[in-house]
Amino acid sequence: MDIIKTKRFILRLIRLKDAKDLAKNMNNWNVIKNLSQIPFPYELRHAKQFSGKIEKEMKKEKPENYVMVIEIDGEVVGAVGAHHIVHGHKAEMGYWLAEKHWGRGIMSEVVKKFMAHIFTKFKLRRICAYAYPYNKGSMRVMEKVGMKFEGIGRKDMIKDGKFLDVHIYAKVK
Ligand SMILES: CC(C)(COP(=O)(O)OP(=O)(O)OC[C@H]1O[C@@H](n2cnc3c(N)ncnc32)[C@H](O)[C@@H]1OP(=O)(O)O)[C@@H](O)C(=O)NCCC(=O)NCCS
Repeated sequence: MDIIKTKRFILRLIRLKDAKDLAKNMNNWNVIKNLSQIPFPYELRHAKQFSGKIEKEMKKEKPENYVMVIEIDGEVVGAVGAHHIVHGHKAEMGYWLAEKHWGRGIMSEVVKKFMAHIFTKFKLRRICAYAYPYNKGSMRVMEKVGMKFEGIGRKDMIKDGKFLDVHIYAKVK
């Protein structure tokens, strides 16, 4: 099933209709400074392009990207996705949450549920994720969900014209 319901949130597949909430909650530098390849300001057209593309791609038998949104009280307030999926092997995970919901353990719960779901769905043996060196909150989330620190990819990403190191975390089965 591609829907996960808990007491605090619903996780379900992203769709084009989510673009308005996505643009509203993601267009925040405190969110975007931690993400790779996301434009800032993040406008409705960006959200439409992304959600429409992924909605379409997820209809394929073997999608390379798989994204669920986090819904709280009927509003889309975040997302968690698997990217570069190699079916039967591995995927890279990314996630974000609207700032108004930070610090209540929501993302740790989301990531735990999402990883269990995609390990099974895509028969994965490895899920990895990357955090910039200043993103202590995200590193803590990854530790809390049982991912292990594997090392630092030096100058692995370019953000705002700067080369940044990334802290690599992964969980394997
Ligand atoms: C990172 C993010 C997803 C965390 O979401 P969240 O729901 O607040 O996370 P949780 O509450 O589940 O856990 C956060 C943990 O980090 C800790 N934390 C937060 N900021 C911290 C900081 N500056 N230094 C150290 N620990 C910090 C919290 O105390 C908490 O740990 P605890 O439960 O042991 O106290 C959210 O802040 C976010 O969306 N940030 C912007 C996008 C982003 O960074 N995405 C990830 C890219 S790798």
